[in-house]
Amino acid sequence: MSVLSIKGSVPLQGRVGVHGSKNSVLPILAATILCDGQSVIRNCPELSDVKSTLRILRRLGRRAHYQDGVVTIEPGKTSCCEVPERLMRELRSSVVFLGAILAKTGQAVMSYPGGCELGPRPIDLHLSSLRQLGIEITEQNGNLICSAKKVHDTEIHLSFPSVGATENIMLYACGIPATTRVCNAAREPEIEDLACFLNSMGCSIRGAGSSDIFIHGTDSFRPVQHRVMPDRIVAATYLSAVAAAGGEVWVEDLNPEHLSPVLSVLAEAGCEIDAGADTVHIIRDGQLKSMSSIRTMPYPGFPTDAQAPIMAAAALAKGTTVFVENIFESRFRHAGELVRMGADIQVEGHVAVICGVPKLYGTHVGATDLRGGAALAVAALGAKGETIISGLNHIDRGYDKFEENLRSLGARIERVV
Ligand code: EPZ
Repeated sequence: MSVLSIKGSVPLQGRVGVHGSKNSVLPILAATILCDGQSVIRNCPELSDVKSTLRILRRLGRRAHYQDGVVTIEPGKTSCCEVPERLMRELRSSVVFLGAILAKTGQAVMSYPGGCELGPRPIDLHLSSLRQLGIEITEQNGNLICSAKKVHDTEIHLSFPSVGATENIMLYACGIPATTRVCNAAREPEIEDLACFLNSMGCSIRGAGSSDIFIHGTDSFRPVQHRVMPDRIVAATYLSAVAAAGGEVWVEDLNPEHLSPVLSVLAEAGCEIDAGADTVHIIRDGQLKSMSSIRTMPYPGFPTDAQAPIMAAAALAKGTTVFVENIFESRFRHAGELVRMGADIQVEGHVAVICGVPKLYGTHVGATDLRGGAALAVAALGAKGETIISGLNHIDRGYDKFEENLRSLGARIERVV
């Protein structure tokens, strides 16, 4: 089992590019089954979650190849409507195939996606929305057996702007001859990227990125080429690393508008932030200051996925920072590992209080989820001495060339097998 070795307290210097967005490319890859023609997806990161998604596409009968950041889905028919449990368990977000498979074949069989390290991951909003769209769903021994019974115009009001539920509605509604309106839809940039892909295929989606989305379905889809948007959370992670370790870095190939709440928190902490069209220049020298209170919210609020990396930087800030995690049940599991590095963190339910300390110290820590693992690396870069991080399977789900990119900024980091 490989581990990351990081020898900290080295200021970071230089330029680093941001790879394509995991949370955009996964639903886009699911959407490729809507078209029997070829799909070419560029700027696709090499991640274990992407490999799991390609395995599902092949299980559904499609030929999918990945090479040098480009996924090619060859022309072909989707010959299967079932996703086996072992593949569902590999990928938490595999539930987003439900809408696409139903749109393509009119039926779908898949197991309930497992919970994950962030707590139970219910899909009630996905299922209630699909039922409103005329899908009959029976739940049998942990399996979902779905079939499209009726097709009609539908207006769906989401009680919470769920990203995955919005994506599932879009993927199904695109493939039926009806009009669907989604009220209180998720507004994340990844929703806009999915809509852009689906519209390129021949769908007609208006309002993506707002809370009110209109989808006019179609039965004719054309081959498409698409470049995936930059990963705003990977960008936030690199920025957090500079905040923790100090230095001067240009983070490139990103959309700073997708990161506004994170940039303002880092500026409040005393980092110099200069946002260009597709870069963010960050300088941190001198003591980090506390960031008052950070509440995670649906977009355009502070992103829950950036909570852990920013907390790692806040552990070294002078003063107290309060985090309120409003999106997931249990997303503070990295706090315990940060405390083992010398951080002063009190967790009470959805609230974590971080009292900054002058120093963190390298030790052995274990990642328990994707962003929590990245947070341990951020802390290690600002810590004194060597940190050994295990559980790299979590980090590899969402970060492509993680240690190579940080090493290019001068970090003393290596993957030890
Ligand atoms: C997506 O997860 C992202 N994953 C998450 O990123 C991200 O944290 C999340 O959106 C919020 O931005 C992907 O896109 C693959 P939700 P998703 O549905 O779709 C509850 C990462 O680190 N909920 O908006 O699962 C749910 O339990 C990952 O890259 C219901 O109660 O997020 C959670 O508490 C982590 N019922 C909250 O809503 C439902 O039917 C947000 O879930 C669906 C969700």
